[in-house]
Amino acid sequence: MNIFSNTSLTVSCGPGSVPYLREELRKMGYTILSEHDRGVEIEASWEDALRLNLCLRTALHVMYPLKKFPCRGPDELYREVAALAWEEIIDPSEYLSVVSVIETGRVKNSMFANQKVKDAIVDRLVKKCGKRPSSGPNRDNAVVDLFWNRDDCWLYLDTSGNKLSDRGYRTMPHAAPLRETLAAALLFAAGYDGSVPLVNPMCGSGTLAIEAALIALNRAPGLLRDNFGFMHVKNFDGKKWRALREEMNGRGRGGLPARIIATDIDRRAIDAAKINARAAGVETLIEFSVCDFAETPLPTGKGIIMLNPEYGVRLGEEAELGRQYRSIGNFFKQKCAGHTGYIFTGNPRLAKQVGLRTSRKMIFFNAGIECRLLEYHLYD
Ligand SMILES: C[S@@+](CC[C@H](N)C(=O)[O-])C[C@H]1O[C@@H](n2cnc3c(N)ncnc32)[C@H](O)[C@@H]1O
Repeated sequence: MNIFSNTSLTVSCGPGSVPYLREELRKMGYTILSEHDRGVEIEASWEDALRLNLCLRTALHVMYPLKKFPCRGPDELYREVAALAWEEIIDPSEYLSVVSVIETGRVKNSMFANQKVKDAIVDRLVKKCGKRPSSGPNRDNAVVDLFWNRDDCWLYLDTSGNKLSDRGYRTMPHAAPLRETLAAALLFAAGYDGSVPLVNPMCGSGTLAIEAALIALNRAPGLLRDNFGFMHVKNFDGKKWRALREEMNGRGRGGLPARIIATDIDRRAIDAAKINARAAGVETLIEFSVCDFAETPLPTGKGIIMLNPEYGVRLGEEAELGRQYRSIGNFFKQKCAGHTGYIFTGNPRLAKQVGLRTSRKMIFFNAGIECRLLEYHLYD
């Protein structure tokens, strides 16, 4: 049986991002087979995995299913994993990494499960090829994922390797940067498509503005990366991959998108954001300036204004931030009429200080904290 003839892929994302991932996949023409709170399963082939890694903005990993099996303990896990023809999947000269998510009492921890899976693969390769691959935690080579829930295991090849949020452009992080995939999901949640202006005061390292520019240009985010998990698998076809990249490179939006304005009070943030935007190839598209959020130049006509203020997890910061959130409310009220305002925050008490009625509240998670994207219709 050809290991690469499976017809489904599992695509994972951050909690809260599933609706936006689903929409991206639907637009690309894929059929959703099932869905859970951190991803979807779609009808797709191994070849599709390459395109998905290149194009998806909200996905974290694209996983190719190798095997599902009942499993009641570590010995059974070893036997089932070792029964797969790893010599057809991974070259023993590759470096191998195994990542497990354990929701079972059958083993003590994920490290132990990782080790069992690794031993099974390495032992099989030594037996069949006479060579032992090196292994460790580094995810930029061949990556195998194990999900163990109660008495069932799912084994995947991680075609992404490192998270797809690691686009490669953020060489200069500033304070509390958003994950790139979350920034893309927030923009989709606001209905951003490049046709109306985007204003991003408090831009920090520029993630929202840069993701907006990539969306507006219809530029595949994966073009910024030169390493994916699928490149370290035996059937990797470099020629096909290069052709696909070229096809995506040629795809773009006709004409210039609407204005993208990004500001921050801290010059170091703007310097970092500019360097990141240059690395992403979108520096000329974003109008950067250093100023207080309330002095941000606003475009005429309807636009999206999105802020990600700090939300103060440290003691004593909340009172000061409360004043800032009230000022954001005043800024929205006094200067932003006609636009739609968004605040992304993980602190509901601070959100209340804005003092305006929200039209929508969308739940996301940022670094394990439940956050909300709050929408305000700012009528004239
Ligand atoms: C949570 S960070 C934003 C992170 C950003 N979303 C990213 O992905 O990098 C908040 C930013 O607000 C900026 N800031 C704080 N007070 C400000 C003010 N009064 N006006 C403008 N920017 C401000 C900080 O310098 C910081 O860069």
